[in-house]
Amino acid sequence: MDAVELRKYCLLGQNDEIALRNVRDILEVMPLEKSDKLLEIGCGTGGLSKHLSGYVKSITAFDVSPAMIQEAREHFPGNNIEYHVADAGDPSTYKKYGAFFDKVIAHYCLHWLKDPSACLQGIYHCLKPGGRCFVNMQCEVAEDTFSGIFAYPMNSKWAEYMEGYECPYNAFKGTKDDFRKLLDEAGFKSQYVHCKTYIEDLDLDETTAKAYCRTLMGAKNRVPRDKQEEYMNEAFESATKRKTEEGRCILTSKLLAATAQK
Ligand SMILES: C[S@@+](CC[C@H](N)C(=O)[O-])C[C@H]1O[C@@H](n2cnc3c(N)ncnc32)[C@H](O)[C@@H]1O
Repeated sequence: MDAVELRKYCLLGQNDEIALRNVRDILEVMPLEKSDKLLEIGCGTGGLSKHLSGYVKSITAFDVSPAMIQEAREHFPGNNIEYHVADAGDPSTYKKYGAFFDKVIAHYCLHWLKDPSACLQGIYHCLKPGGRCFVNMQCEVAEDTFSGIFAYPMNSKWAEYMEGYECPYNAFKGTKDDFRKLLDEAGFKSQYVHCKTYIEDLDLDETTAKAYCRTLMGAKNRVPRDKQEEYMNEAFESATKRKTEEGRCILTSKLLAATAQK
């Protein structure tokens, strides 16, 4: 993600409407305690950690992107939040923590990993006995806006610029029972696992929807500068066909959300 897109992403992180809805959804299924030490995996620019910081004792938050962490430190510093650069797919990330955390959240992060298993095992490793996690990730579904955006580079019109393009987005292809199996293999006992899948329609005005989608178009950097605007507009149109009567855009995805206790 380049600096301009990162700024826009950061502004979206400050969109209280979305952040507060995310906080409410998490607290509904995994209440937080004032004494909790919380780990957030894939914290991005820190919008979620900032909103959660009042509910807990401390937050350790990490992201693989140094630029995201720099933005988080600048925009969402907190006396009880520590930001680090680390890779959620690397088992050594979790080894250094030991069984330290009361709660772990991986919010919209697992679909960026080649395989979510290492992360789930890491979460299990760094939770205290009795500790709980909340994870969500996007799943494959017809009409998925995000899959549409990541598939767009393969459109023949742009193929000449996309040699060697590797899609970074790995929506979950299994069912919720397949995901329960991954949690089970990571060590979580099945009676303490809750898992659901649901369609999420994000209803945004066109400017916000466009800004949001553009943050996901890293492939546009392969296109010559004078064609990037055209590329992004076309990718956006191809992935966001659904509109409300008032002309707002509906971004569709299928989500899987799970809580589990160690
Ligand atoms: C959609 S953002 C979610 C940000 C935040 N959790 C929230 O919900 O507002 C996904 C984040 O996952 C991060 N990410 C992708 N791969 C990662 C990895 N291997 N390790 C850690 N973070 C990763 C990205 O850099 C990005 O900041």
